[in-house]
Amino acid sequence: MKRIAVIPGDGIGPEVIAEAVLVLERLRDTHGVALELTHFDWGAEKFLAEGISLPEGALEMLAGEFDAILAGAFGDPRIPSNKVAEDVLLGMRRGLDLYINLRPVRLLDPRLTPLKERTVEEIDFVVFRENTEGAYCGAGGFLKKGTPDEIATQEELNTRKGVERIIVAAFEYARANRRKRVTMADKSNVQRFGGDLWQRVFKGVAAGYPEIEANHQYVDAMTMFMVLDPAQYDVVVSNNLFGDILTDLGAALAGGLGVAASGNIHPGRVSLFEPVHGSAPPLAGKNIANPFGAILTAAMMLRHLGFAEEATRIEAAVLEAARQKKTTQDIGGNLGTREAGEWVAQRVAG
Ligand code: NAD
Ligand code: IPM
Ligand code: MN
Repeated sequence: MKRIAVIPGDGIGPEVIAEAVLVLERLRDTHGVALELTHFDWGAEKFLAEGISLPEGALEMLAGEFDAILAGAFGDPRIPSNKVAEDVLLGMRRGLDLYINLRPVRLLDPRLTPLKERTVEEIDFVVFRENTEGAYCGAGGFLKKGTPDEIATQEELNTRKGVERIIVAAFEYARANRRKRVTMADKSNVQRFGGDLWQRVFKGVAAGYPEIEANHQYVDAMTMFMVLDPAQYDVVVSNNLFGDILTDLGAALAGGLGVAASGNIHPGRVSLFEPVHGSAPPLAGKNIANPFGAILTAAMMLRHLGFAEEATRIEAAVLEAARQKKTTQDIGGNLGTREAGEWVAQRVAG
């Protein structure tokens, strides 16, 4: 029995997570996958009503009582400080030390990419985004705030341990999955200190994987190459901020934010799975958000928990939905969120 904490969150989060949960429950009922789902109402509504973002003791509870976490999205225009996302999402990433943000960029169907004449084989790579430090460390501050002489500093933190473990994770993945190249993206031509550390660690780690090509690109050039020649990528590794940016671009290449899945992982510990997209306030409450990113995220979670066959079953159902245009409008269908989710759930059961 695997225990799953479900945190739908804000905006379209609850709508897409409802469909991911439907698919999981259908699998449980028809294929005997032993899952116990527990819902938590952490998000903007709770914060506005009670002043609580991440409840006290939440991280200890998640680590002690659950096998995985399935989350929707966090962010609400009524909370401009973004405190809920900071406390709940970044709080879980940092607090549970989920140092790998694994974001596959995998084209499901050639019709879905905005690039011309690309096959599914040409857009198929994974991004290893560092997920606990970098520009997300929250360090910085104001001096003379609100005056004409105001100064704002925003610091970036790079620890040797933090850099090394994400680069090792990328090479280990490449080795285990017979990928031939790991490409590191940085801005070491400008960020002389952090960039230098990443460069040295990358070269040192790469030496232990002679069968894998170690490739480096400046991140600005990488955004260009991702569009012009995505086929060159197997495994990409980058810091927290660049990884965030590159994976929205990657999502766009592979069909859009609506279909992109991700895992926040610390091998051997409770890990968090969430679609790449956010709460998309303009879409919320309209039954138009694409649930496939959340459903593919649930599949990724199942694979992580050891249910590889069931994960493949979900992915095949989503692929078939994309082929038959049994999808929401953003990827060319005319179904609503619930109808697209139900189509996949039926296919998974059948
Ligand atoms: P977003 O990902 O929420 O949406 C950007 C656009 O992408 C949407 O307007 C929509 O056109 C499209 N899109 C996203 N998800 C879709 C889906 N499932 N189906 C169809 N189209 C989809 O990014 P944003 O508008 O920059 O951010 C909105 C809020 O979400 C902000 O508060 C932001 O901080 C937050 N956010 C949260 C997460 C997260 O919780 N993991 C991720 C990104 C953004
Ligand atoms: C993501 C999001 C988050 C991030 C925000 C909401 C803090 O953009 O998960 O990609 O920047 O990591
Ligand atoms: Mn992002």
